[in-house]
Amino acid sequence: MTNENINKENQKETEGSHEYDGIKELNNPAPNWILIILMGSVFFSLIYFIHYFGYPGNKKDQISEYEIKSEQFDKKIAANNPNVNASEISIEEMAALGKTLYSEKGCIACHGTKGEGNAIGPNLTDNYWINGCSTEDIVKVISEGKPAKGMTPYKTMMTKNQIKNLTTYISESLVGSNPTNTKEPQGEECE
Ligand code: HEC
Repeated sequence: MTNENINKENQKETEGSHEYDGIKELNNPAPNWILIILMGSVFFSLIYFIHYFGYPGNKKDQISEYEIKSEQFDKKIAANNPNVNASEISIEEMAALGKTLYSEKGCIACHGTKGEGNAIGPNLTDNYWINGCSTEDIVKVISEGKPAKGMTPYKTMMTKNQIKNLTTYISESLVGSNPTNTKEPQGEECE
């Protein structure tokens, strides 16, 4: 018995043409486009497997990812902890934490959203300083304030490291950022 529906032209007998009980094994390979898709997906899955699970040392596997994330979190906690030395985190991380503090602690109200200064507080983005050029001077003015001139003392409201982070934000990100509507320079020009 033969199946009328099978297209005879496409049937190729296998080498050695196995035949048992009148049933013939034929060689009808899948069309190339299916093979290409199959090989393509196998190849893609290999690449994806390596990308997703990583291999030891490329830091993409879930355990490394967890370790990296928790290390970052520890650093963030440490940065706001007065008992830990803030220098354990990078300048960029300190500046990023400082940026958050700058809006959280209300510096924006008197120094502008971008540090450009306003009717109350001086411009923090230029290189003119009323209270001294050094980082220590900035730390001091944030800590002690200048109550007579309207600058709030923050030493009871922030930890030393928070003040350090804010100072880093000012000196690394604000100074030289040239925002619009800056207040005119006040104080002496620093190098
Ligand atoms: C209530 C308004 C006010 C707030 C809030 C305020 N400042 Fe000031 N700040 C001033 C004034 C006014 C001065 C100028 C003091 C002076 O004449 O010496 C000043 C000065 C400074 C200076 C020194 C500038 C210079 O030229 O010497 C720094 C740095 C500074 N503020 C940082 C901050 C930071 C950081 C915050 C937020 C934690 C903050 N300020 C919040 C009003 C404010």
